[in-house]
Amino acid sequence: MNIKELTNKYIMNTYGRFDITLVKGEGCILYDENGKSYIDFASGIAVNSLGYNNPALNAAVIDQLGKLIHVSNYFYTEPQALLAEKLCKNSFADKVFFCNSGAESIEGAIKLVRIYAKKFSKRGYKIISMKNSFHGRTFGALSATGQDKYHRGFEPLLDGFTHVEFNDSNAVTELINSGSEYCAVIVEPVQGEGGVNISDKGYMRALRDLTAKNDVVLIFDEVQVGLGRTGALFAYMNFGVEPDVMTVAKPLAGGLPVGAVLARDYVARAFEPGNHASTFGGSPLVLSVANAFFDEILKDGFMENVLKSGEYTMHRLTELKAEFSGLIKDIRTIGLISAIEFYELKAKDIAIKLTENGFLTTAVQDRVLRLTPPLTIKKNEIDLLFLSISEILNDNK
Ligand SMILES: Cc1ncc(COP(=O)(O)O)c(C=O)c1O
Repeated sequence: MNIKELTNKYIMNTYGRFDITLVKGEGCILYDENGKSYIDFASGIAVNSLGYNNPALNAAVIDQLGKLIHVSNYFYTEPQALLAEKLCKNSFADKVFFCNSGAESIEGAIKLVRIYAKKFSKRGYKIISMKNSFHGRTFGALSATGQDKYHRGFEPLLDGFTHVEFNDSNAVTELINSGSEYCAVIVEPVQGEGGVNISDKGYMRALRDLTAKNDVVLIFDEVQVGLGRTGALFAYMNFGVEPDVMTVAKPLAGGLPVGAVLARDYVARAFEPGNHASTFGGSPLVLSVANAFFDEILKDGFMENVLKSGEYTMHRLTELKAEFSGLIKDIRTIGLISAIEFYELKAKDIAIKLTENGFLTTAVQDRVLRLTPPLTIKKNEIDLLFLSISEILNDNK
């Protein structure tokens, strides 16, 4: 049996896979088993922000492999201490909890705000979340997620989530003022899976003011859009407001599984030994690579380049929309996360055609094609993608 047949026979059927088997990568290019190349505008779903075969990440893996892969969190390790310091010194946060994925970081945040509410605030256990949001597939994260299609078949979900319209601060105000049941608000500054929906600045400001006034914890889920994706180190920096708790994951360890909950001291103090834990969370191997990743994105000029590539993408998207105004309903972009929303065309069909032409992209909603290239993508690679999209759209005119 070949790889595809083995996969379909022995692996549970949870993914609609593209019909290609990837074997290696270099820079922003991936190669399949037949040697065909693909320019990557997916990045393993916003993970491989430094592309493939990155020398700094490779060196960190090799260096740490010979020292220590895993020890339990009953001991101190250097990679954890160093990364925690870097994350705090470069953000609003005072304290960090390390885990292994985005969903786990959401679970950690949910537990943290619940125990904070129980110990220190006069508020209940409920959390306000947004419609169209995505927070992950474990039960807490799934319950926070504001899209029915992910819930179907798994009810009853975790109690205590109310979903309100994204970008509507009045809906949040109403709930918070309705009593003391709600202890937290969770929001993605940019909804990634929801279709690259960008918060309004006024909305973020209103959420910040409202939650601060009422001792309600404001959680930003930056699993997809944190760590440089929007052209700022953290997405919240685009909006001029800081959260109390923030989740990050995907790109943090350059492709190794990782997640982190960042929090201000006043909330973080609610956790005591025994409240929350993870066997693998914060492993020396993974966090050594995360330190290397973080050092790379903090280097002078790195974020300026992301912004430049983001501005160029915005320019190309604007041209594309003007040329294909009958097909493209909307374009949305911030830094290097972008969406092309079609009136009728199915995003998945466009993504498949692009794959045939040697470009990897992702379809997020039925009609939304998402671009999340490595942050190191080059102008000529962006040009090649847009040429291919134009060709495909011309065939559909
Ligand atoms: C905003 C957001 N939160 C949480 C998650 C869940 O992350 P993971 O798949 O690592 O569990 C995702 C995944 O796409 C995400 O986009």
